[in-house]
Amino acid sequence: MTDYRPHVLFVEDEALLREAVAARLRDEGFEIVECGTGEQALTRLQEFAFDAVITDLRLPGLDGAALMEAALDRYPDLIVIVVTGFGTVKDAVQAIRRGAADFITKPFQLDELLHVLRSGLERRRLRAENALLRSQIEARYALSGLVGHSRPMRALAQLLETVAPTQSTILITGETGTGKELVARAIHQNSTRAHQRFVAFNVSAVPESLAEAELFGHVRGAFTGAVASRPGRFEVAHRGTLLLDEVGTMSPALQMKLLRVLQEREVERVGDRQATKVDVRVLAATNADLRKLVETGSFREDLYYRLNVIEIRLPPLRERREDIPLLAASFLDRFGREYEPARTGVAISQEAMRLLMAYGWPGNVRQLENAMERALALTPPGTAVDVAALPPDVRDGPGADTPSPDVALPAAGFDLDAFLARTERSLIEQALAQTGGNRRRAADMLGIKRTTLVEKIKRLGPLDAASDFAS
Ligand SMILES: Nc1ncnc2c1ncn2[C@@H]1O[C@H](COP(=O)(O)OP(=O)(O)OP(=O)(O)O)[C@@H](O)[C@H]1O
Ligand SMILES: [Mg+2]
Repeated sequence: MTDYRPHVLFVEDEALLREAVAARLRDEGFEIVECGTGEQALTRLQEFAFDAVITDLRLPGLDGAALMEAALDRYPDLIVIVVTGFGTVKDAVQAIRRGAADFITKPFQLDELLHVLRSGLERRRLRAENALLRSQIEARYALSGLVGHSRPMRALAQLLETVAPTQSTILITGETGTGKELVARAIHQNSTRAHQRFVAFNVSAVPESLAEAELFGHVRGAFTGAVASRPGRFEVAHRGTLLLDEVGTMSPALQMKLLRVLQEREVERVGDRQATKVDVRVLAATNADLRKLVETGSFREDLYYRLNVIEIRLPPLRERREDIPLLAASFLDRFGREYEPARTGVAISQEAMRLLMAYGWPGNVRQLENAMERALALTPPGTAVDVAALPPDVRDGPGADTPSPDVALPAAGFDLDAFLARTERSLIEQALAQTGGNRRRAADMLGIKRTTLVEKIKRLGPLDAASDFAS
């Protein structure tokens, strides 16, 4: 701790003890505010953001546990140390469960109190530092255009933080539209090569016969039409980063040449004998399962290991649905700004959002991006994006006919099990009614196995009439 004096609220009803301890803590460099009652402490807490609270559990009036609860409610990262009387360890354990940082029992030595106080404050400092670091990392990748707060996306940001600055070759895998190219650009932007070129080469976009010349360049007259010498992508990317996209579609001949370039770190232009040294960081992307291609013999194993030094797997959108609201909003913002500068912050209706969240997104983020562009075009200014503006397959997706689970919890609380049983019974009765009591088809409608349905019917007891025509 430098010249910052931690502010501690000390709540103790025994005035003599309180004053003595407070004086010693001040000597140790703490800023102490003393309170004799829980009520008084609450008032102080509202006036100032303390770093720590030391409170006796037993207080007249508002007790220490209630004070702690109110304090943590207001300042979740506050360090609370509870002081308990002899033989009330149970209360202390209870307090820890509710969020106290530590406890000590009376009578205590000052050293003991200092120890728990200092280590609590240190933990708090580290926690704050980590949170800051994490938000900085997230902000950095948000700058590269990577949106997402889901656990996999946060893990991705951390992984990128580690691997981007290295010179390692990285294989980026994931379904179409999951953001492989975006991640490749983020790696480049956060590497030491950020101020050099980022060159992307899509292997499948050029005919096999041209791919070699595209990648490695050619000299004049190397083949018909080669009227001038031209550097390939490797040379263009010198000192920068080269993304080999859809690397799984490379021909065997090209794979072999690539392997040699990666090993020798030099390229030969087509028709040239002279090799040129290149300093290129190679990233590769594929939506194919390269391992499988290796097994079936269509991709060289040695090249696979060259490329797959580090693998970054991008999860499909359906495995991180919590990112959908954020992505949808950011696309609406971006397209809104592009089309008319004032049109940002377009909202999405609850029902439309429910459908977006329920849909499977086979085209992943790109498909969501397209859906939002379309939705914005179909949404009158000043209104929220609604179901009608969504693409038909999203509208009719699996979420479309699912009843909404939006049930307002009564203030008085209610019986969850009874409610679930009632809901289950009602849906089963409806399914049986709609299928004329055909249990197999009813089970299909509910998305469960017939045997499961039979079991449920047994458990629920007598149902509505339709279930009598057992099948
Ligand atoms: N996490 C994300 N945040 C914001 N935009 C994203 C994200 N992931 C993908 N996108 C956007 O989705 C679109 C598709 O991304 P990208 O081209 O990187 O996907 P890809 O995995 O390379 O797809 P393909 O396999 O079809 O080439 C791009 O417009 C990209 O900006
Ligand atoms: Mg791509």
